[in-house]
Amino acid sequence: MSLIKNLEKDIINIINTAGYNVVDPMFQLSNRPDLGQYQINCAMSLAKQYGKSPRDIASDIEKELEKDSRFTNINIAGPGFINITLTNDYLAKMLNMVNDDIRVNIDKKSNNKVILDYGGANVAKALHVGHLRSANIGEALKRLARLLGYEVLGDAHLGDYGRPLGFVVLEIKKRYPDLPYFDSSYTGDYSEIELPITNVDLEQIYPYASLKAKEDEAYLEEGRDVTYKIQNHVRGYYDLWKKIVEISKADIKQIYDDLNVHFELWQGESDAMEYMPELKKIFEEANILTESEGAQIVEVKTPEDTSPMPPLLFIKSNGTISYETTDLATILERKIKYNPDEIWYCIDTRQELHFAQVFRAARLANLISEDVNLEVVGFGTMNGKDGKPFKTRDGGVMSLKNLINLVYEETLKRINPATVPEEERQSVAKTVAIAALKYADFLPYRGTDYIFEVEKFADLEGKTGPYLLYSVIRMKSLLSKAKEINYKNMHILNSDIEKDIALTILNLPLILTKSIEAKSLNDIAEYLYKLTSQYNKFYNENKILVEDNEKLRESWLVLTKVVYSIDTLLLDILGIRVPEKM
Ligand code: ARG
Repeated sequence: MSLIKNLEKDIINIINTAGYNVVDPMFQLSNRPDLGQYQINCAMSLAKQYGKSPRDIASDIEKELEKDSRFTNINIAGPGFINITLTNDYLAKMLNMVNDDIRVNIDKKSNNKVILDYGGANVAKALHVGHLRSANIGEALKRLARLLGYEVLGDAHLGDYGRPLGFVVLEIKKRYPDLPYFDSSYTGDYSEIELPITNVDLEQIYPYASLKAKEDEAYLEEGRDVTYKIQNHVRGYYDLWKKIVEISKADIKQIYDDLNVHFELWQGESDAMEYMPELKKIFEEANILTESEGAQIVEVKTPEDTSPMPPLLFIKSNGTISYETTDLATILERKIKYNPDEIWYCIDTRQELHFAQVFRAARLANLISEDVNLEVVGFGTMNGKDGKPFKTRDGGVMSLKNLINLVYEETLKRINPATVPEEERQSVAKTVAIAALKYADFLPYRGTDYIFEVEKFADLEGKTGPYLLYSVIRMKSLLSKAKEINYKNMHILNSDIEKDIALTILNLPLILTKSIEAKSLNDIAEYLYKLTSQYNKFYNENKILVEDNEKLRESWLVLTKVVYSIDTLLLDILGIRVPEKM
């Protein structure tokens, strides 16, 4: 248990000794630092329970607290708020414990096994802004959950199934009809064929073919037929599809790598298809499929619904399956292969209806044990200044690559030529750009939309990724300059700002717990800024390395080291890389 949680437990015991039974002492960092470091706010609710005045209760508790040598300046304010302050000795002692082992500043949450479905890139299609959010938030959530004890498998769940890819194969057939993939007499090995197509071509073909299918009935028909051939593993067509997946996957992997996003599983929608026969059986036996205009559907509406809840399209009238059904088959696949306690889906909130249908159908069919938590971790959109989803200047979809480039151009200007040699400039600017983008993406609660403001994100000052990186690099450099000095212990907390930093450090476990409960990283992003800016204030006020008082200098270095380790830990949780210099 963390130090702060232990302290809370001790306070509960003290309140019990004072004669009051309390579950939550409402112990928290004070919002009136002039009165004390912490507040205990439970006297008001105990008053109702015990039929006494809150001030009397507070004063009974105060008497008990006074017996404890860890506390000082105990006082009661207003109707019965108890303010307490930790003695400097005790505070320093706790910081030494954190310095020795950061684990005393983290509370485990659960050891559940989770499949985290995030990323969700689509094969042959350029990643867009929405894919950034899923990858960014999903990766950080995975890292956070692991830190807090969960066992997590991240699955990229590639969109590799469905009609758009049928159109891509059709378009390739139109452009290169002589490729052996379309020659039914070809008996050779397809893996030896050089495909005259790169990922850049695929990203052009995908939207071209999808649009054409909308405008041209015959093309649409042909595309359907090609899709059918791929899905039924018809030689040639299926092999070309596989080749496309391979080309595209290499590119997708590269982007995710750049973003410091890594998956344990690279399953695609298509991988769940072998579970279709079993899925059908389960749905048939559950007796929940009904016929509608040649299609098979599942009614998922309940009388309590106040907003529209259309039926789930299980099998379309042409025999193919819907996006919903691929997700149902994937649940079955995950259950059989991994037997998770929970499945979390990091997705755009605009897909919430889709998942509501899927989860309801899964429950109706008893597809997975009721104890398995299926949960949507939804995120809002990144908008342009007009408040609409961020677009290119001519109104097109903004690709993720172009978005990263926009930020890169901005960060490149800000890399200090005095510290970063010319040949490293570009790679440093790229790391900083991605940090800027990622950090800005974490700052609002995940479900909230936010506006893309490149100058603001890339700013070296203020609540930004670059500011954090710059600060952390400076701490690291200070610590490396202090290498010869033997600093081991925190002896003194000299000034108010040092004590504030210490309190912020000890508050970390509560921030982590709150974040995992909300499955949002915004509190961690805020916390990082708070801790770092408090530290920078302290740094600017003191000349640490040349301080004559050795005990003070040692304490300052320990403080620096603890802040540095928490900053690097949290940046790593957020999946933000720190360059050597910038
Ligand atoms: N490929 C989808 C998209 O780009 C996202 C996939 C989300 N995950 C899922 N299990 N459906 O919209």
